[in-house]
Amino acid sequence: MSEKQNIDKFAQSLQTQILEQLKKQYTKEVIDRWQNPHNFRRMENPDGQASAKGSCGDTMEMFVKIKNDRIVDCSFQTDGCGTTIACGSAATDLAMNKSFTEALGTVSAGEILKILGGLPPADVHCAQLAAEAMRRALADYLYHKRQGWKKYYRKD
Ligand code: FES
Repeated sequence: MSEKQNIDKFAQSLQTQILEQLKKQYTKEVIDRWQNPHNFRRMENPDGQASAKGSCGDTMEMFVKIKNDRIVDCSFQTDGCGTTIACGSAATDLAMNKSFTEALGTVSAGEILKILGGLPPADVHCAQLAAEAMRRALADYLYHKRQGWKKYYRKD
């Protein structure tokens, strides 16, 4: 076996071990969203945009596009861990296609945890961060709806 094949085999085995370890701690839903998150992207010209910082120091930025009082698109970015990515993915799915008021009432840490099938206690703050980022993005939409010109002076 060549050195490259040995390295590939080692990397493959390491990946399998890490995945097995993750499966002991996290639900399949968390791991799926961690590996293939929904709506994990920056949005150009959002109607609402905000970031929040978690108790761990990680940040999440949330974007919403709203037409006729309905969330027609939302997305997020984060420098946080895989769990945070899974939470952002769940938060955006929760808000998508809802009215502004429904989204405000629906996207909470509790609902995010329901979608994910729960998280270990040490990771619950990741769900709180995603819910807070969404709440702030919706508040930003409301603020700019009243004073639309201000969004052109937004600091990114
Ligand atoms: S560990 Fe920081 S938000 Fe997930």
